[in-house]
Amino acid sequence: MRREAIEELKSIVGDEWVVSAREAIEGYLYDETPMPIRPEACDDVVVVKPGSAEEISKILRLANKYLVPVFPRGGGTGLAGACIPTISGIILSLERMNKIIVDVDNLMAEAEAGATLKDLIEAADRAGLSFPLHPGDEGAQIGGLIACNAGGARAIKTGIMRNCVKGIEVVLPTGEIVRLGGKVLKNNVGYDLMHLIIGSEGTLGVITKAWIRLQPKDVASATIIIPFEEREQALGMVPRIFREGIVPLAIEYVERNLVEMVAKSLGLKWPCTSAEYQLIVILSETSEDALLGTLERLLNLCEKSGALEPVVAETRKEQDEILKIRSEIYSTLKPNMVDILDATVPPARLIDLIETVNELERKHGVYMPVYGHAGDGNLHVHLMKWNGWTKERYDELRSIIYARALELGGTITGEHGIGYVRRKYVEMVLDRKSIELMRAIKRIFDPNNILNPDKVLP
Ligand code: LAC
Ligand code: ZN
Repeated sequence: MRREAIEELKSIVGDEWVVSAREAIEGYLYDETPMPIRPEACDDVVVVKPGSAEEISKILRLANKYLVPVFPRGGGTGLAGACIPTISGIILSLERMNKIIVDVDNLMAEAEAGATLKDLIEAADRAGLSFPLHPGDEGAQIGGLIACNAGGARAIKTGIMRNCVKGIEVVLPTGEIVRLGGKVLKNNVGYDLMHLIIGSEGTLGVITKAWIRLQPKDVASATIIIPFEEREQALGMVPRIFREGIVPLAIEYVERNLVEMVAKSLGLKWPCTSAEYQLIVILSETSEDALLGTLERLLNLCEKSGALEPVVAETRKEQDEILKIRSEIYSTLKPNMVDILDATVPPARLIDLIETVNELERKHGVYMPVYGHAGDGNLHVHLMKWNGWTKERYDELRSIIYARALELGGTITGEHGIGYVRRKYVEMVLDRKSIELMRAIKRIFDPNNILNPDKVLP
């Protein structure tokens, strides 16, 4: 990077917030994408830590002047390489902008982009409210959660990030600061630019602040593990739960051999030992009575659906342990993993997608552990490291699974996004005209292509 550009950056944010020492930038180069597929980060970068939207605006104007790429960065918990600086440029870390104000009467948090998921959960809690989503790692930052439209397990009742965000303040790649939406729950003015930016993975603007809808605090919750002898019965139970009018916080599908292995590696014990195919249902209600009522209906339904004896966890500790084991599947598998897929199909077709994965396992003699957000039809398939396997063979497997998801009326990613690593598959999903429109939108927002330049679009 040019000396004068670095000097100008220092005059915008202050010397101490422009970091270029090798050891100090190391932690900013990658995200959580598995090593075998993540792109190499360029280390000819500076990390800049602005303190306000105005400073970010100046940084982006400077980037246009010198034609230097800018890579916005949150907590670095993404799984598709969206924040990895693949070419020389500026890493823009929002970490200093982390204030949260809760407006109790409007059930709304005004959160700066660098506040973490943990900060938001705690701020809501202190105000007697809750932020129900849990897209995974609590070190994720608000800006990244919105930019990547994060989902996670607890998305059934209140939806994903897109459904909770009501307004954003964004610095456009050309430097203008705009506010889209706010604390309003209904807003019908013009095209919805806010929803265009949500999920754009840091390519259309730098989100600096957001207005996020909170919920009343649930006071009673239970986690129920429902075991089944057959996978078909387990997944067949999902639509029955919905048709019964039960709206859980989460319905997760897991297989016993996998969760037992993860539990063991964490020094814990998986509490349900009776059958291979299992659903984890989290119920969360605003009163004990409501919880008991819903639990009774769920347990009745289990009996009628061929389930074996469910395990009902009611204490906080038991419930947290189950969720911890479920949440750590990814990090436990990661050292031996090539890729994690998150193809998503209409929920009732999940069974077909898993069967395709099983056929591939048999055909190639490999192990591809699966689990998923069953209520959303969102399946995680892991491509693991196998002796002698080349990149091409993994590519082939991935393409078969993606093609099958599409054939079932689904999509290649429902959660982790395109980022860097899935760009070449976008053409499998979108027609030429849609891609052309997206490229044109990118050009309007970012005529010099300086913001996260090589992400999302094929
Ligand atoms: C999960 C992450 C990997 O569901 O999406 O655990
Ligand atoms: Zn997931």
